[in-house]
Order: sequence, then C-alpha cells, then structure tokens
Amino acid sequence: MTSIAEIAARVEALRAELRYHNERYYSLDEPEIPDADYDELFRELKALEEAHPELRDAASPTAHVSGMPTTSFGSVRHAKPMQSLDNALDDEELVAWVGRCEKGLPDESLTYAYEPKVDGLAMSLTYVNGVLTQGATRGDGTTGEDVTANILTIASIPQMLDPRAGVPPQVVEIRGEVYMASADFEALNSRQAAAGEKTFVNPRNAAAGSLRQKDPRITATRPLKFLAYQLGSSEGVEPESSWSPATQSGVLRLLSTAGFDVSSEAGVASSVDEVVAACAWFEEHRHTLPYEVDGAVVKIDDLRLHGVLGSTSRAPRWAIAKKFPPEEKQTLLMNIEISVGRTGRVTPFAVLEPVFVGGTTVQMATLHNEDHVATRDVRPGDLVIVRKAGDVIPEVVGPAAGQVNRPGRAAPWTFPTSCPSCSTALVRIPGENVTQCPNWDCVAQTVQRISYFASRVAMDIEGLGEQRVAQLISAEILTDVADLYDLTETQLLGIEGMGPVSASNLLQAIEASRSQSMHRVLVGLGINEVGPANARVIIRAFPTLKQLAESATEQLAALDGIGPKTAERVVSFMRQDRNLVLIQRLIDHQVGVEEASSALPQTLLGKAVVVTGSVEGFTRQEAEAAVIARGGTSPGSVSKKTFCVVAGESPGASKLTKAETLGLPILPASAFVGLLETGELPG
Ligand code: IVH
Repeated sequence: MTSIAEIAARVEALRAELRYHNERYYSLDEPEIPDADYDELFRELKALEEAHPELRDAASPTAHVSGMPTTSFGSVRHAKPMQSLDNALDDEELVAWVGRCEKGLPDESLTYAYEPKVDGLAMSLTYVNGVLTQGATRGDGTTGEDVTANILTIASIPQMLDPRAGVPPQVVEIRGEVYMASADFEALNSRQAAAGEKTFVNPRNAAAGSLRQKDPRITATRPLKFLAYQLGSSEGVEPESSWSPATQSGVLRLLSTAGFDVSSEAGVASSVDEVVAACAWFEEHRHTLPYEVDGAVVKIDDLRLHGVLGSTSRAPRWAIAKKFPPEEKQTLLMNIEISVGRTGRVTPFAVLEPVFVGGTTVQMATLHNEDHVATRDVRPGDLVIVRKAGDVIPEVVGPAAGQVNRPGRAAPWTFPTSCPSCSTALVRIPGENVTQCPNWDCVAQTVQRISYFASRVAMDIEGLGEQRVAQLISAEILTDVADLYDLTETQLLGIEGMGPVSASNLLQAIEASRSQSMHRVLVGLGINEVGPANARVIIRAFPTLKQLAESATEQLAALDGIGPKTAERVVSFMRQDRNLVLIQRLIDHQVGVEEASSALPQTLLGKAVVVTGSVEGFTRQEAEAAVIARGGTSPGSVSKKTFCVVAGESPGASKLTKAETLGLPILPASAFVGLLETGELPG
C-alpha cells in the first residue's frame, strides 16, 4: 500500500510539474507537452486531493485559474472573476457531467446550450452607456492586462452597441474570444515568412502575439476577430429588459443584435444524447470550421440555474468543455537531425514530408531525446504517425502500421557523436536522458543564448532575432550578451542588410533594454527553470545581480515556489568564473533596474498575511500590496500556512472562525503598520 508520505510527495511533484507547464504555456508561449498530457497530470492531482482532503492547499494549481498577467500593459481587476472550464475528455465524462447537473437540479427539466470552444484568448470588453471603453485579457482570472488600444483595432468588435438590442445598460461587460481564423493565420504566416519576420506556430499563438503588441499599429495589421459568448458584470440593467436575457441561447441572440459575431454553429440540446451528438458534430467538423477549435462547450441554458449550481474556485459547475483528442496523421519521415539549444542540450527532430495536422502544416516534429527515438523505433524512410494538439510542438508518436517488418527498412538511427555546429564530441549525461554539447563557445549555443536574452520573455530587444544574432557573431562583434552594450553604429553598418536606420533602431532598442526590470535580466541569463515567475520571486529577495551572485542555495530554496534543484542551478551558474565576469560586465553597463517593491525591507518574506475587514489608512488593495511589497503574500483565505490574520473593521466572520480553529494569531488593525515594519507579531 502507498503510504501517505508517498502520496504527499506525489502531490507536491504534480504541483511543481503543473506550475512549470503553466509557466511555459502562459508566460513563455512555449508549451512543452500536449494539452491532453497536461490534463492527465491535472486530473491525477485533483483526484489525489479529493481522496486526501488533508493535502489540499489554496495555492495548488487545481485551486485557481492559471496564467499570469505579464509584461508592460496596465492591469485591470475584473469585476467578476474570469473563470476556467472543467474538461470532459470523453463521452463518459460528458454524460457524467450531465448526470451531476441533473442530480443538483432534480426539479428542473434541463436544456443545454452548446458552442464551439474557439482556440483563442479570453477577452473582457467593457461598454459604458453603449460605448467601448476597455478591453482586458483574462490574466490570472482576477487581474488581466489592459489591451484597450489594441482591441480598438479589431473590426469585428463594435465600438458602440447597436441600439436595436435595446437601451444599453450603464455598464456592461461582454466576454468572448479573440482569435485568428485559420485562413487568415496561414496568410499572415506567409507574409511574415516573405518579410523575414517571425512566423507563428498556430492561430492561438498568432492571436496572442498580435494582441500583446506594444504598438497598436502593428496589431491593426493582424487579422484578429472576436467571437462573443458571455455577459460579464453589469450595472444598471433593468430586470425583464432586453439586456437581461434568461438563457445562454438568449445571450447569444442579444449579442448578435448588439453587433457582435456569435457562433453560427451554436445550438440547444434537450437530452444527454443530443448533447453527446452535438459535441461529436463539432469534432467531426473541426477542420471545416473557419477557426481552430479545441473542443465544444456545453452550458446549462437557463441562466437562473447557474446561480443555483454555483462554481468551484476555478470553474463553474454549470458548464463543461468537451475536449477533442489530439489529432494524428501519417507522413513520411525523411530524415532525423539534431539541434543545439541555449544550454547545449541537443535534441533530435524529425524532418517530415509536410502534413496538415492539428490545424497547421507540419514539416518538423520533436523526437525529444535519444531514448525516445530508440523506444519508438522510428527510422528515416518510415511512414510515421505525427500528433499535434493545440499549441504544442508536433510530436512523432511512432512508426505507422506495417513499417517495422518492411523490407528495405533503414538500420536503427544512431545519435550523432559530434556537434553539428562546432564538431565537439557530444556527451550523454549519466543517469539523465540528455545529450549535451559541452563546448560553451559553440556558435549554435551562443546564438540561442543571446537571442533568448533578447526575446520577449526576457529583455525584449526588438530587431534582435536569431538570424541577426548569428550575423553579429560571425562578424565577430558579439560573443556574449554583455557585448550587446558595447556595439557601435560603425560596427553595425558593416553588417549585410543593415542601413543607418536599422542600425540606429537596434542600438536604441539595446539601450532601452538597460531599463528593463531586474527579473528580466535574470530570465535572460537563461538558467534552466528560471522563467518570469521564479525570477520575480528571486529578485524580490535578491534585488541586484551582485546580491544574487552572493546568495546561497539554502537561501534561495527557502523562497516560495523555488525548489532545491532550481536553487542549486542558480547558485552553480553564479559560481562559474565565466558567468561572474559576465555579470560584472552587465553591472558595469548598468543593465536592469531594481524593482519598485524591492526598495522596501523584506520583512514579511515568505509569510502569508490575510487581511480581513478595513484597515485605517489603507484600501484593501493597498493593504495587500503593502504585504506583497515586503516579500509576503496576501491570500484571500485562511489556511494552516497563514502567518497571521489582520482583522480590521467589520472583518469576515468565517475567516476569523477559521483562524481561531487553527490557532493562528489574530492582530488588530492598529498592529498592521508595526507588522509591516518588523515582520514580527506584537508582544
Ligand atoms: S465560457 C466560466 N464559452 O475556454 C465560463 N469559454 O477553458 C467561461 N472558450 O477562458 C468561459 N470558447 O477562453 C466559454 N464558447 C465558449 C468558449 C470559451 C472558448 C475559452 C475561454 C475560457 C476557456 C476556458
């Protein structure tokens, strides 16, 4: 039998893994595993937490919506949280959901609204007296990014609500999906490729990238569309008026009249069989729809019943997403090649005869590592099965039927012994399924390292893509990221394709990057597992590169969300002479600015302080921000991990009761300032 300690360890491992994949998906736009695999991990965790309530944790990825507000847009707090949806992976789970709805609403005869699950980005649009005033992304569900300027460039978003829908309420929020139609996506990618610009892996990424442009003039050139599916918060809605529809299907009719695109495939089902059939229809027609869909959404039609069923902290009980399995196709494996990443890791990949799968044309697919190729036994010349799900890098599943005993089949593929870029002998790391090019000066690695530093997740230096970096390296004016800050106009003018304008733009972009916040510099150093979320936590505790270079593994590992492996990686990076020199040069060039919050002493580092009721001199948000600025967290609920509860005027009774039950310290509002200053409990 599995012991509780083993289960607890598995729960922690799953949480860490899900956080890692959340970061890859939401912050880096670089998912590593198919949605279906992610869902599997998520469900395993959820099942374990349900079976072992003592292991539950409000900070678990199952307890909240994933995704973080990133970068430089202003933030918007959603009046009503933007939730996620629970998934049904097969018909059985869909039927079980219908069963739960019926059980929860035994006196109702239920009808269900079904819609496509368009694969784009959730968007909240606010109309004040019928005029569009704000567009915000979902972000973490509570707070999103203000993308109003970009939203105003999308033609299918009405700037005024059509009065034929009735007199608009004072304030109404419309929610839906910003997406790129499949045909528009293909055309955009051809245009980008012809102009030597970055192409996108799929329509969702293209939509996300276009919406996050800092210059709305660029967004305006991107073929974005909006499909409306929900009413969000509102003020001044007259009951029984046209703006107060009773059903989800009524919402779609209203939104259509008000000037929005709504799905023309949406409909209503009145039995479980009809629900299953509707979802099957979407799956069958997924590639003839004008947009990418990754599933179908089914909602209880009667809006009144939504309130009765309610929500979990993450998703409503009145809706479900029926996900489609990842699509698989057959094609010819022309060759197996290897590529070298920024850490020197060497990855085999398949060169394929182009095949249309999962909404895009695939010509290359990852083969992950040496063992993957061996265990799948795929060989050049084989017909192989290629799988692609949503956002994910396409993958070779294995040889198609009949390949294994095919006469004339090639010999098993063997991993090359030397680096394709610098010819250094490759090294297989003992005990790990990783092959490495050990030569730090390898040009392929250097190109990857520097272009990662310049990329959007890190220093965001426009005009410094992989090709440009490779050119500067071969011109011998660039060997590491610190060299960027020594580049001169004369040097750049010697580069093919660079005129005075592009040279001066590039120098300006590099100069501007010196005032990026310090956590981005840390991300840019490219240490494994140090993405934006981890980097923020680390920089909050060690605000400068100098302090970070002097940090110890135990100090880093004590930070919220930083595991011992990550801490070790950071420290071993910081201890290498070469990196110390690099860091000193970055310091000399004054690269990176300290983050505002880090100016304050970190008195509450790693401590969770719950504030309930009003504290004199602070709004609720300010009180929470004051805790966070001192390194703490300010969760909305009390748990055994809470450091203390600050009870202001009219505190929440349930929070106090919970704190008392758990024996937690409860501080009066008058002790709040002292707590911020000292981080200690009074008396
Ligand atoms: S309803 C609380 N309807 O799916 C219900 N969502 O996994 C929230 N999505 O964030 C959304 N098509 O971005 C709804 N017809 C549809 C949808 C849809 C796509 C997305 C949306 C949401 C995500 C949840």
